[in-house]
Amino acid sequence: LNASLGMVLGSGLGGFADGLDDVTAIAYEDIPHFPVSSVSGHAGKLVVGSIEGRQIIVMQGRVHYYEGYSMQEVTFPVRVLAQLGVKQLLLTNAAGTVNESFAPGDVMVIRDHLNLTGDNPLIGRNDDRLGVRFPDMSEVYSSAISATMREVADASGFKLCEGVYAGLSGPSYETPAEIRMLRTLGADAVGMSTVAEAIVGKHGGLDVFGLSVITNYAAGMSSQPLDHQEVKDTGEMVKDKLSAFLRTLVSKL
Ligand code: HPA
Repeated sequence: LNASLGMVLGSGLGGFADGLDDVTAIAYEDIPHFPVSSVSGHAGKLVVGSIEGRQIIVMQGRVHYYEGYSMQEVTFPVRVLAQLGVKQLLLTNAAGTVNESFAPGDVMVIRDHLNLTGDNPLIGRNDDRLGVRFPDMSEVYSSAISATMREVADASGFKLCEGVYAGLSGPSYETPAEIRMLRTLGADAVGMSTVAEAIVGKHGGLDVFGLSVITNYAAGMSSQPLDHQEVKDTGEMVKDKLSAFLRTLVSKL
């Protein structure tokens, strides 16, 4: 194993792993202590494969706090990736847009996050072998890698927007009042994952970077009610263009 890049693929985005060469896939249920997802649209496989000779480790699907797993369980796979030698960690997710100027189908570079889950994966006794008690969070998402993402996107005509991801526990979607609150707080996108993994990645010294696929307007922004099918369908629409972007990106990291 010689993979310094790891990825977590969120709702509807797992297809990227299907384009890898020399694949070894291991079902989460076959990995000791790995949590197993119950959400449709989330395969549960750890996939080791390569793109143009570069080996990467991909988590095809993740588990969420709202499934009833603790924050420590949700982030256990990030610890495993770090132990396997991963240094750079891409976190992807499906998210609703809070920002009026983004639209479904857009892809957002996560510049920063708001952890509004009410919990934190580092609560409890600190294991000093993994990281410090009070980790700095002033740059959770690597600005250097984000700059590389913008360069690669510009060069290939792939449109990226950028903003702040608000992570909530879910599983209910937000109310329109909550979305107005999030906008006031500086959020551009909202979702139910990623923040715990980002905190643990940063704690463990990884270079974390993130992408949100904007799958829908957040509550109250359109006349349509929110549902998971829309989230999966938009993910499906963006999949091919996003995969092409990721393939180019991997070669530049
Ligand atoms: N809210 C929360 N999580 C989400 C959304 C949303 O609108 N879309 C996809 N995940």
